[in-house]
Amino acid sequence: MSRMREIIIQEIRTKGPITFARFMEMALYYPGLGYYTGKGVKIGPAGDFYTSPDVHPAFGQMLARQFFEMWKHLERPARWFLVEYGAGKGRLAQHILNFLQERHPEAFTGLTYYLVEISPYFLELQKEELKKFSSPSTRVIPVKTGAELPEKLTGCLFSNELVDSFPVHRVRQTREGLKEIYVNYRKNSFVEEEGPLSSPLLASYFSDEDVALAPGQEAEVNLAAREWLKQASGRLRKGFLLTIDYGGTARELYSPFKHQGTLRCFFKHQLIASPYQNIGRQDITASVNFSALMRWGREFGLQNLGLLTQARFLLKLGILDLAAGAAADYLFDAERLKMTLAIKKLIMPEGMGEAFRVLIQSKGFRELPRLNVFQTF
Ligand SMILES: C[S@@+](CC[C@H](N)C(=O)[O-])C[C@H]1O[C@@H](n2cnc3c(N)ncnc32)[C@H](O)[C@@H]1O
Repeated sequence: MSRMREIIIQEIRTKGPITFARFMEMALYYPGLGYYTGKGVKIGPAGDFYTSPDVHPAFGQMLARQFFEMWKHLERPARWFLVEYGAGKGRLAQHILNFLQERHPEAFTGLTYYLVEISPYFLELQKEELKKFSSPSTRVIPVKTGAELPEKLTGCLFSNELVDSFPVHRVRQTREGLKEIYVNYRKNSFVEEEGPLSSPLLASYFSDEDVALAPGQEAEVNLAAREWLKQASGRLRKGFLLTIDYGGTARELYSPFKHQGTLRCFFKHQLIASPYQNIGRQDITASVNFSALMRWGREFGLQNLGLLTQARFLLKLGILDLAAGAAADYLFDAERLKMTLAIKKLIMPEGMGEAFRVLIQSKGFRELPRLNVFQTF
């Protein structure tokens, strides 16, 4: 039996059944043994899943373009910040920093780039990837938690596939009302049991979201996202918060067609239905409810500038011009084909283009900034 499994069973034996959120928190983040906190390749061909920075540098280059526009809306501050939450191995940071350094040196100088990453394993990898960027005028700083950030900063906070990796509560609509799903251990296996809601926020969540679950329907609620949003927005004096992830609005996510919810696991590029297999060795994730991020954002003083698909976001930022320019310039046929296929994956509906959404929120502007991605084509 794996050590991680043993530790979870031990906690259940001493405390009784645990919420699914607690189970997921341990399976992913238990110090040294959780999926993200343990060693081992996770993202990319030798890992369990791909993320956009692994598909092609064009993704990071488009984000860099977006940040440059935001920097101009902030009136070109001499000192400004980019904060990437859940920065993984640092590849996205590398693509963004490369692009700003080459194309927009006026914004690159004076930039402090923080990578917030809970996993010590990823923090080590980041140091290697990013050594070359630090200079007296541009600083790149990996940190373990948001508590290590400056109290107040001007700039852009952002994340790619962070929120979907937060532990989620799971609930079920029953005849007796909404119940939470707990994890127990009986007869040598994990079993799910219904119990009372563990937080008052769960009781009001669906009415606040203006949706009703169908009888028997299961759903996930990401309360950790609210806590993160509260802390992140609290650090922002003036600027933007950009969140990229798979998911949708509450209506999409909690529709009767998603009767079993959206929880799923990844192990060596295979979709695994059960979170009780490969504990500590497989990713567990759930789609993100962007309506809740917008509602909570308002609560914490953010302005919602808009929600759009990744396809539209990347197209508006000119990903196709980039492909065409590079192809005409210097790429050999095989490389050109590789680039075209990668960009297709990032923007096509059956790839990442429609499943992924981009939410942009702002703070501290008297007049709402009009970003190009929200202007009609
Ligand atoms: C799915 S991975 C995405 C990594 C990277 N952003 C990418 O696009 O390849 C999620 C990352 O978020 C990190 N993470 C999860 N919760 C976190 C938290 N509370 N603070 C900082 N990082 C966190 C995980 O350790 C992991 O590296």
